[in-house]
Amino acid sequence: MSKYIASIDQGTTSTRCMIFDHDGKVVSVAQMEHEQIFPKAGWVEHNPAEVWENTRKVSAEAMAKGDISRGDVAAVGITNQRETAVVWDKNTGEAVYNAIVWQDTRTDKIVEELGGSEGADKYKDKVGLPLATYFSGPKVKWILDNVEGAREKADKGDLLFGNMDTWVLWNMTGGSDGGVHVTDVTNASRTMLMDLDTLQWDESIAKDMGIPMSMLPEIRSSSEVYGKGREKGSFPGVPIAGILGDQQAATFGQVCYEPGTAKNTYGTGNFMLLNTGEEKVMSKNGLLTTVCYKIGDNKPIYALEGSVAVTGSLVQWLRDNLNLISSAPEVEDLAKGVEDNGDVYIVPAFSGLFAPHWRSDARGAIVGLTRFANKGHIARAALEAVAFQSREVMDAMNADSGVDLTELKVDGGMVVNETLMQFQADILGVPVIRPVINETTALGAAYAAGLAVGFWKDEDELRKQWAEDKRWEPQMDEADRKRLYAKWNKAVQRTLDWAKD
Ligand code: G3P
Repeated sequence: MSKYIASIDQGTTSTRCMIFDHDGKVVSVAQMEHEQIFPKAGWVEHNPAEVWENTRKVSAEAMAKGDISRGDVAAVGITNQRETAVVWDKNTGEAVYNAIVWQDTRTDKIVEELGGSEGADKYKDKVGLPLATYFSGPKVKWILDNVEGAREKADKGDLLFGNMDTWVLWNMTGGSDGGVHVTDVTNASRTMLMDLDTLQWDESIAKDMGIPMSMLPEIRSSSEVYGKGREKGSFPGVPIAGILGDQQAATFGQVCYEPGTAKNTYGTGNFMLLNTGEEKVMSKNGLLTTVCYKIGDNKPIYALEGSVAVTGSLVQWLRDNLNLISSAPEVEDLAKGVEDNGDVYIVPAFSGLFAPHWRSDARGAIVGLTRFANKGHIARAALEAVAFQSREVMDAMNADSGVDLTELKVDGGMVVNETLMQFQADILGVPVIRPVINETTALGAAYAAGLAVGFWKDEDELRKQWAEDKRWEPQMDEADRKRLYAKWNKAVQRTLDWAKD
């Protein structure tokens, strides 16, 4: 009997392969970063060939490190940065352009034109999303409109589109030699092209965006066998049996299976998802309606999502663009060296502002500077920006659902930062809880794959594997919480005012 499930986590900054045992413990892991390409202000790209190469390498490395043989792996799950769009030639397997990353704002004009007189909410009833640069559909349109020869090839049926899940799956299952062209409902729900009720592509929206239907992958559930690993790869003949966009995967890994349960992931950006069960709740407060997961033939489960574009990547920016720190964890030491933020606020609107504002024209600001401000205050303001943005999202969630969240499960790279976690609890006014297995994204995809092949029996079995590691209780008094949050809102307003000029 196979002992493990492998999970490929193709994220914004790196690709990982993690191998889990039956208790959900990590037995082996390998990780590689890929290049972030910034050709112009507001543009962000990845090289799809590099991403696929790294996927192959980390898979082989994780298997070798753990001394795991192919027969030991019962199934593979895939989870991925969502929305990032790849268009490739199905005959050669080569991408016609770099992947356009979810953070990229080059489609702002396209998005405006698509909305026309109906504005940003033109497709919202169908797809649950406002028209914004974030989503894949307009990125595909940009590639077809701007890459020489792409539209002709697409019309001939030679080009395929996929998010990173589809790109990785197609290559893992043989590429131009029989690769499976499939996505799951969670990834499809981020393209602006999928009808949330039918869970099928909406032909009229695809037509508005000039995207031929032949380019689109088949939409399947999040947990079923899509295909088998190619003979030459690390998982020959192993079923690839789970796909979830990374935020939905983290929600699944955090066992948020009941309506009303929520998690917040602290990665490049922050993403809070609230399970709303079989009910599709339409937001009135700037949140997205999205598919949370669909296990095999079961009914789809929906979620409300608050997406914040820049949180962890703000710390990277302090490291790489300002050289304020030499490694990301140093931000906490710097922040702890000062008593408070010294009245400094950073609003990192590098990709405009996502939830709940949806303003692609907003631009970042540091406000409140005086001669007193030092590196520590900047570091502290950066951490606080992460927490304040999550507060905005939680307020929207409470308003939309009509029920206040009483606690928040957290995961992702930044939850080791105690200063941030305490401030998060303080500014939300509810306890923040970290699980023992913090690798919830990779774990969620492993769970989906494992369920499909009977490695785990059902959600009840998975629920029992979740355990609390640490809890931060709010310690700030209400007056301080109000005062700081009001200041933050003032700072946000500056980034919106800036955009108007
Ligand atoms: O929607 C974008 C999100 O999926 C990216 O997540 O963890 O790669 O920052 P992450």
